[in-house]
Amino acid sequence: MTRDHDVLVLGAGLAGMRAALEAARGGADVAIVTKVHPIRSHSSAAQGGINAAISEEDSWESHAFDTVKGSDYLADQDAVEIMAQEAPSDIIEFEHMGVIFYRGPDGKLGKRAFGGASLARTYFVGDITGQALLVTLYDQILKAGVKVYEEWFATELFMEGGACRGMVALEMITGELHLLRSKAVIVASGGLGRLYEPSTNALICTGDGYSLAYRAGAPLMDMEMVQYHPTTLAGSGFLMTEAARGEGAYLLNSEGERFMKRYAPNKMELAARDVTSRAEATEIAEGRGIDGNVLLDLRHLGPDVILKKLPQIHEMALDYLGIDMIKDPVPVRPGMHYQMGGIKTDVDGATSVPGLYAAGEVACVSVHGGNRLGANSLLDTIVFGRRSGKASAEYVKRTAASTGGEDLLASEQARLQELLQRPYTGDTPAGLRLELAVMMDKKVGLYRNEAGLREALAAIEGYKQRYARIAVGDKGRVFNQALEFVLELGYLLDCGEAIIRAALERKESRGAHTHTEHPDRNDAEWLKHVVLTHRGGREPEVSHVPVTITRWKPEVRTY
Ligand code: FUM
Repeated sequence: MTRDHDVLVLGAGLAGMRAALEAARGGADVAIVTKVHPIRSHSSAAQGGINAAISEEDSWESHAFDTVKGSDYLADQDAVEIMAQEAPSDIIEFEHMGVIFYRGPDGKLGKRAFGGASLARTYFVGDITGQALLVTLYDQILKAGVKVYEEWFATELFMEGGACRGMVALEMITGELHLLRSKAVIVASGGLGRLYEPSTNALICTGDGYSLAYRAGAPLMDMEMVQYHPTTLAGSGFLMTEAARGEGAYLLNSEGERFMKRYAPNKMELAARDVTSRAEATEIAEGRGIDGNVLLDLRHLGPDVILKKLPQIHEMALDYLGIDMIKDPVPVRPGMHYQMGGIKTDVDGATSVPGLYAAGEVACVSVHGGNRLGANSLLDTIVFGRRSGKASAEYVKRTAASTGGEDLLASEQARLQELLQRPYTGDTPAGLRLELAVMMDKKVGLYRNEAGLREALAAIEGYKQRYARIAVGDKGRVFNQALEFVLELGYLLDCGEAIIRAALERKESRGAHTHTEHPDRNDAEWLKHVVLTHRGGREPEVSHVPVTITRWKPEVRTY
């Protein structure tokens, strides 16, 4: 069946719903396509808070500088300035929508410290900030009349005359494929965390939007910049929010030492994430870890702070490891958490493909550069979600609707039919996905080197060949999650290849990209973005774009 809208948003996390709300406010007929119910989106897993220079002693310039320094000077400073300037009003708007942010005893909005920040500017709802924002925003989009195609899975973007004019999507409950036409598409489908194992990311974070947009002609930028969060729970990789350290928790090695004094004497546990993760990895590699972990110690904070401000992580440590953090320290290790790179956009979410916008983690504006500061991701989603929604609503006013697309629908039907009919080859999608994710963690993780990256690229080529023959276990139509899983694996393979190729290109160490054979940052040659453009069956084109510097010249980065 074919349906028509002005704007289609792919993804119902914070960026997607914020974009949809703004596009609807701009007068557009808006629909969201989402593979899960909106409030199951991964934004709900964001724990610690959202940054803004709201307090009297703070300034947007200070927030912007911390962000630029945190990015290891790879972020585009014009975009960072916009994000820092617009943060306070965007957060206050969420409060007006109904989010009950924590308030201190004086009745004012309470804030906590986060890594890499020169003062406390993270606003929060306990350790469920993402969830609180998401639920409130869901109410707002329903009120604004946004249509939600819930549990619909996008298989391909619809391109016509070089412009994006919608998508084909699988209605999971019926197994029917639909052509959804629009004058503009906003990709806001979140991250790609399941490309790594372990990861803090939900099982749904499979890089769908990166791959769909890349294949449609939108370049990817800064893909080599993959963030490892310093405190993920031993074993499972679940997030133990940075807010724990913001409230004063210590990181200890096997000797009971607060080892961060040797790596970041001024900021200690609140250095930027890349610095803290590498410090932990060094402690573990030099024999001062505990079974491959370090310890997160909250005991001195006392039950009141832990139970009131960090109840979720208290419960998680208890449920998954049987550890009560009021009484004992919790084993943690660095784990994959966030992709700084993504679909290259301008500050209004526009890509180089007419009609195609992107916002949130899947996009690269770029405000995070080589390393994102904690609590700047929720901010990125709401600032650039809003801006892309507004820009798309303007764009559709001057754009004619398409009446085509039936050919694409037919070819997608044939492609999925072929997938469903393939015979079993001995490879399972789950087995292949795990192999891929473990390989990425090992060879394209916290530390990289040329030989390892070359091996990773060869491994991806092998996985792609196996993928071309992979069978779908469930041959049925109704809610075929096995089919969805196989399609997701295809998206992950595209993302993996893009990360490896970008990492091979950058011959220096900057932010999250630590190249052991090029251990120093090299501004003379590498103060630039790595951009990949898809070229069908051939290798992608690799090019460079200069970093936009407005007022902060690169300096030596210490914490
Ligand atoms: O640690 C955290 O709460 C994560 C926040 C973030 O990634 O921004």
